[in-house]
Amino acid sequence: MKSEEILKQIAGEVAICTQCELHYSRKRAVPGEGPFDAGIMFIGEGQGFHENEQGRPFVGAAGKFLEELLAKIGMQREEVFIGNVVKCRPPANRDPKPEEVETCVSLYLERQIQAINPKVIVTLGRYSMGYFIPNAKISEIHGQAMQVRGRLVVAMFHPAAALHQPSLKPSLEQDFARLPELIARAADAPQYVEEKTPERKEEARQLSMF
Ligand code: URA
Repeated sequence: MKSEEILKQIAGEVAICTQCELHYSRKRAVPGEGPFDAGIMFIGEGQGFHENEQGRPFVGAAGKFLEELLAKIGMQREEVFIGNVVKCRPPANRDPKPEEVETCVSLYLERQIQAINPKVIVTLGRYSMGYFIPNAKISEIHGQAMQVRGRLVVAMFHPAAALHQPSLKPSLEQDFARLPELIARAADAPQYVEEKTPERKEEARQLSMF
């Protein structure tokens, strides 16, 4: 199946998904939007009120700021793919639960990434970063390009966080400004080596017995 068709299929599945309790607060699912062959994929956290109404990602104040950041590097939102780790609105703007992120990412986001095959993934905020680079501190690693499971990933602060905490704005602007160069030097990015949790160590031990 072609990438464009895969994305359409995923959007259809997301619209009727009942795999986690977030579907109860869904008015419109937000599968994400952008070209099927986008070079950059921005991945946020979860939608708020406006996104839930419109079925589109980043259409509120954070989205306006994201568009400004893109404009400063000569890009428009139509050129990039914008999505979230969860596709339905968490009630009362609460944070998505780890199991909700895990379910939604494994069912939908992973397939979107495979289909789009972007040159770089920019994670916006802690939840999105945590999926790719678990246990990292965003204040320590933001703006650094890393190869994660064969993909170039750059963690950045969430635009909404920078709107609430203006001291984060310059960091976010600087990280965006470096994006074109990071993409150009993608091959030089260091590998992120995942630390194995005790469970994963046990899984690896069991696997190595076969
Ligand atoms: N914040 C997000 O993380 N995603 C959106 O789509 C909107 C706001």
